[in-house]
Amino acid sequence: MYAAKIFVFIAAVVSASPISSLMQAETGNVLAAREAPKHYSGTWDKFPAKKTWKSFDALWKLNTKAMKAKGDTDSDLTNIKKALQSVGKKYGIEDRVLLAMMMQESHGDVGAITTYSQPDNFPTGGLFQCWKCPGFYGKHGLTLDQITSMVEGGAKHFKENLSHWGNTMEPKSVYPALRMYNSGNVNEKDLSSAPNATPAYVSDIAQRLGGWTD
Ligand SMILES: *[C@@H]1O[C@H](CO)[C@@H](O)[C@H](O)[C@H]1NC(C)=O
Repeated sequence: MYAAKIFVFIAAVVSASPISSLMQAETGNVLAAREAPKHYSGTWDKFPAKKTWKSFDALWKLNTKAMKAKGDTDSDLTNIKKALQSVGKKYGIEDRVLLAMMMQESHGDVGAITTYSQPDNFPTGGLFQCWKCPGFYGKHGLTLDQITSMVEGGAKHFKENLSHWGNTMEPKSVYPALRMYNSGNVNEKDLSSAPNATPAYVSDIAQRLGGWTD
């Protein structure tokens, strides 16, 4: 898990550099989440309230363009939507939260990059860029089963994270669990403190839930 975090960190740093824009142009596949307009920090209650979260359908409409820009086919999109809804139901996680996490992790690219930890060679990949999760690097036009396997991988990890924070779908659980998902540990006093990961991760996903897209 720790090694996986380092890879997420490297990906974040690399994607912020000009060199990676070149790489991105070449491969079309380096993950580059931009930072949202605002930077929230502090305890969970300093982040956007749940009433700012838009509905799944509204967020779905707002984000489909970005998914298509990553090369997803119409059937990929249909399958992603089905997978987010069925896996969300199965694990008791709101589908809009899974959607916002997926956009943060991979922009919904079903062919998102898989990276490998060294020296043990464990993969971090898929729509949710998670440790030992299935990934289909560079591929599009996947089956519902393939896409569901990626969503399920992320949901399983996140469900574990949620269980440490009261297991509710309220910001008091969701925001610290997102911090844990990204960096493996949580500074409750500042959910934007994550020296070895992506500091703005929770702030950005909260804003994605409010309709921000990139
Ligand atoms: C939290 O999620 C991460 C995935 O990023 C997973 O590797 C880890 O095992 C989870 N941690 C706990 C304590 O549940």
